[in-house]
Amino acid sequence: MIFEPIISCGGQIEMPDSFLKNCKKVLDKYNILLIADEVQTGFGRVGEKFWGFELHDVIPDIVTLGKPMGNGHPIGAVVCTNEISKKFDNGLEFFSSFGGNPVSCIIANEVLNEIENKNLQENAQRTGSYLKNELKKLSKKHPIIGDVRGRGLFLGLELVDKNLNPEARKAAYLVNRMKELGVLMSNDGIDKNVIKIKPPLIFSIEDSKKLIILLEKVFAENFMASD
Ligand SMILES: Cc1ncc(COP(=O)(O)O)c(C=O)c1O
Repeated sequence: MIFEPIISCGGQIEMPDSFLKNCKKVLDKYNILLIADEVQTGFGRVGEKFWGFELHDVIPDIVTLGKPMGNGHPIGAVVCTNEISKKFDNGLEFFSSFGGNPVSCIIANEVLNEIENKNLQENAQRTGSYLKNELKKLSKKHPIIGDVRGRGLFLGLELVDKNLNPEARKAAYLVNRMKELGVLMSNDGIDKNVIKIKPPLIFSIEDSKKLIILLEKVFAENFMASD
């Protein structure tokens, strides 16, 4: 079973408490591996923990890492137990053309150093909590914001109408208006009505304040306020 600790492109969805823990019990019973995809959630972004799976109190058998690992440089990794890695040593040659590239590995090490030296996980926690709280305040003023969710700097705003139906057109409008105002955001989820907020981990409280001012401006525009 493969999972993202917070479902990202599916609409920034958090799993119910204990869901994964209960899954793990069933998987263990039938000897099925649990694989955590930390491509988006890993490396301190969720704030409280370094890895997203730690939010769920489970230890996956395999963890896959990518994108933020090289902060723009292409590198990915698979982490697993010794027992699992030995299964690949079965006589068939397992290789990867660019695997173990020393330049890429140095870059990934430096990314880890930056996260540690600049306390970026702590920043994700502090700034993310502040931002989530401000977004919640915004949702009280604008009922179109049906839900504010996520952890650290991995947040989502769900836009809905009076009957809680998805507001994809307004989500698209918001994203385009924010782009005109200099802020890149995107809409996602199966109904395309969730605004993803996943800024760089250096995003500050000051940056969050500017973001809120601009969001307030767009939410007050006629198109956003109309039925
Ligand atoms: C959650 C998640 N997993 C996996 C991938 C695939 O990563 P890669 O392009 O490094 O194979 C992506 C890419 O967008 C992703 O967002």
